[in-house]
Amino acid sequence: MNRLAKFYASSIGKKFIAAITGLILFGFVAGHVAGHLKVFTGVDTITDNGVEYAVPHIDQYGQFLKDAGTPVLPAMVGLWIARMVLLGSVILHITVVIQLSLKSAEARPVDYVKSKKRSATWAARYMMFSGSVVLAFIIFHILHLTTGTIRIGDFEHGAVYQNLQNTFRHWYVALGYVIVMGMLAFHLFHGVWSLFQTLGLDSPDRNKAIRLFAMVASIGISIGFALVPLAFLFGLLPEVADYPHHLLGGH
Ligand code: HEM
Repeated sequence: MNRLAKFYASSIGKKFIAAITGLILFGFVAGHVAGHLKVFTGVDTITDNGVEYAVPHIDQYGQFLKDAGTPVLPAMVGLWIARMVLLGSVILHITVVIQLSLKSAEARPVDYVKSKKRSATWAARYMMFSGSVVLAFIIFHILHLTTGTIRIGDFEHGAVYQNLQNTFRHWYVALGYVIVMGMLAFHLFHGVWSLFQTLGLDSPDRNKAIRLFAMVASIGISIGFALVPLAFLFGLLPEVADYPHHLLGGH
């Protein structure tokens, strides 16, 4: 077996892979939430053929992601590279986590009842549950807001602001998103905490600060996400009229 295969076969190797892929996914959600907050920063007024149009910042941000890497790379290639890294991370993360939990179930003695171990098992089970919900959410979410395959309200490619407004005016869509964000908060909190332990960065004098960081980051990210459906549901954001999409300036 070469060194990489040996590393992958060991429990510590798998934990390390779960931690690093988790870190990549954490970076993605942190970036994604920061991008979303652009729904609150308003519009640019752009004049085209003598007519003024309001072009939402979030729509321009969507176009910016499609153009990432241009002109060195053709449009969409940068985005597809990022998508492949994310998909690879999701697949690896889930694979090693399942392998680890099967291993620990095999090794578990039948008759332990110690409460510390029980609570560790509870957290691990809830990680599996919340992780599965987040995975199902991601699949639904891409079909809902990226491809527009699942339509709840009008959908137009590139019109990110209007798509969000059209779908989150339905209370059950907004509520569903907010509930999943609650589960995401738990998953991120426990994930970030475990990451510090796996990377050996925890220590009794730092643990309080690490827990605080994990809590602030996970709750902050989830609240940031949840604000978007809630703001649209309660009509706190202005309506934006249609505009010609060439104003987004894409390639
Ligand atoms: C309230 C919460 C959320 C809202 C309102 C939201 C909104 C959006 C929108 C509008 C898009 C499409 C952007 C475009 O087409 O330009 C998108 C894409 C995406 N979102 Fe979210 N999102 C939320 C939460 C999440 C969470 C929690 C995750 C992951 C855990 C996630 C993962 C993704 C992914 C993977 C894509 C596809 C990116 C791509 O390949 O283009 N989103 N989201």
